[in-house]
Amino acid sequence: MSQQVSEVDRRRTFAIISHPDAGKTTLTEQLLLFGGAIQMAGTVKGRKAARHATSDWMELEKQRGISVTSSVMQFNYRDHVVNLLDTPGHGDFSEDTYRTLTAVDSALMVVDIAKGVEERTIKLMDVCRLRDTPIFTFVNKLDRDGREPIEVLDEIEDILKIACAPITWPVGMGRGFKGVYHLIEDAVYLREGQEREGYGRRVEGLDNPELDEILGANAASDLRDEIELVIGASHEFDAELYAAGQLTPVFFGSALSNFGVAQMLDRFIDEAPKPQSRATVSRDVEPTEEKLTGFVFKIQANMDPAHHDRVAFMRLCSGAYRKGMRMKHVRTGKEVRVGDALTFFAAEREHADEAFAGDIIGLHNHGTISIGDTFTEGEALEFTGIPNFAPELFRRARLADPLKAKQLNKGLDQLCEEGATQVFRPLLSNDVILGAVGPLQFDVVAHRLKTEFRVECKFEAVTVATARWVQCEDVKRLEEFRNKAADNLALDHKEGLVYVAPTRINLQLTQERWPEVVFHATREQ
Ligand code: G4P
Repeated sequence: MSQQVSEVDRRRTFAIISHPDAGKTTLTEQLLLFGGAIQMAGTVKGRKAARHATSDWMELEKQRGISVTSSVMQFNYRDHVVNLLDTPGHGDFSEDTYRTLTAVDSALMVVDIAKGVEERTIKLMDVCRLRDTPIFTFVNKLDRDGREPIEVLDEIEDILKIACAPITWPVGMGRGFKGVYHLIEDAVYLREGQEREGYGRRVEGLDNPELDEILGANAASDLRDEIELVIGASHEFDAELYAAGQLTPVFFGSALSNFGVAQMLDRFIDEAPKPQSRATVSRDVEPTEEKLTGFVFKIQANMDPAHHDRVAFMRLCSGAYRKGMRMKHVRTGKEVRVGDALTFFAAEREHADEAFAGDIIGLHNHGTISIGDTFTEGEALEFTGIPNFAPELFRRARLADPLKAKQLNKGLDQLCEEGATQVFRPLLSNDVILGAVGPLQFDVVAHRLKTEFRVECKFEAVTVATARWVQCEDVKRLEEFRNKAADNLALDHKEGLVYVAPTRINLQLTQERWPEVVFHATREQ
């Protein structure tokens, strides 16, 4: 097997999706501990506390170096290379969160046993569904009293429209959380008397009389009945359905007390997809192709405010990166020599000499790279599937000095290219409306406009509920729509036509009234 093939085979690139506080950070930390990437619990959480201690943008700015290193965490586990991509949550939730999901081969969904499916999880799953991303599920906080596990599985199936195949099942909950039963291995892992950190004490077979001794005859018999019910009422794991994003294997545990995580990680390494082929405008690219290709899914600005330095995060789709190699930036047609790409091993920022398909590298740039850009070793390829997402929050930009409109527009166009915000210019007014999916994005934009483009502006409330990119095959009908709905139409920074709906109901009515017009919630770059 060539080195290239074996490097691709052993890679797993994924992101964790969850509603804030479900335990993403705690679980990340346990995974890094298993991978030996950190030595001590609290390393990642400490950073998170530092990041969220203040919502002040200037303070956040100071922490930027840190947030970049934790954007991609690479660790080794059982001879595999795992790339864990962070999906910013809490206040730093932004379009980056969504776009990160376009750069992974699978995702791990964390659900709080007491809360079930929450709003942010629903949104993130919608994004995963765009590419039928395979999903693992970890139901967390079993060391606390929560809802009935079967009820939570029903909720996942109903709301997220994905079949659940429990792989482990909790034995008790809260103070009585004794361990998990592994349905595929037919073994119970008990928290008491763990032989190996994180794994628990293994008892072979649900029928094993040892269980009656350990749990008590009644509890053991209840467990057997419960498992029989669960098997009858749920789906069996099916690798094909999992790969198609239609079925999720489910694990129960407690990230905080590191129980049930190891069983999940082991299965993840076995089942989660290795780097997959990727579509471009002209052809599919296989990860084992020799020549390097990749696309940019995220740009992080102002790492070092003094230098206006920006890092473009590129997902490698094929070939290998080697220090000092030349790459073609397809959109500009320019050849660049890349001598100092960042890689992200062990949560430390270091210069790496090599990276393969599935890995992420960080390219330094000064504003020449845009979200969605493709890099190759010469071929004119263009990766697809790195869209803009319809914003959910809108503000009108109001200039402190009206004479600075030109600078404002220039600055906003640049920030749009970097994916920091989206701009909509109404057809019938001179307003400039900004769109975002997380509120902090507006603070970032105001700050960057001021420091990088010397434009001061305020953002005002505006009655826009959502936006949709508009498309219509029938040119005449489109013209009619343009005239009739002009009040609510705008152009984005690439002159794409957008319907900015004052309310959700208005959008719904407009869609009903104009059945020939397609209203897209995403737009390809
Ligand atoms: P997030 O990244 O998804 O936002 O969640 P995070 O890991 O920060 O966890 C949110 C809270 O839930 C934290 O408590 C964390 O300790 C707790 N938690 C995470 N996993 C478990 C678990 O398995 N069991 C229990 N009982 N709690 C869990 P906090 O009080 O907000 O923070 P901290 O003071 O513990 O740092």
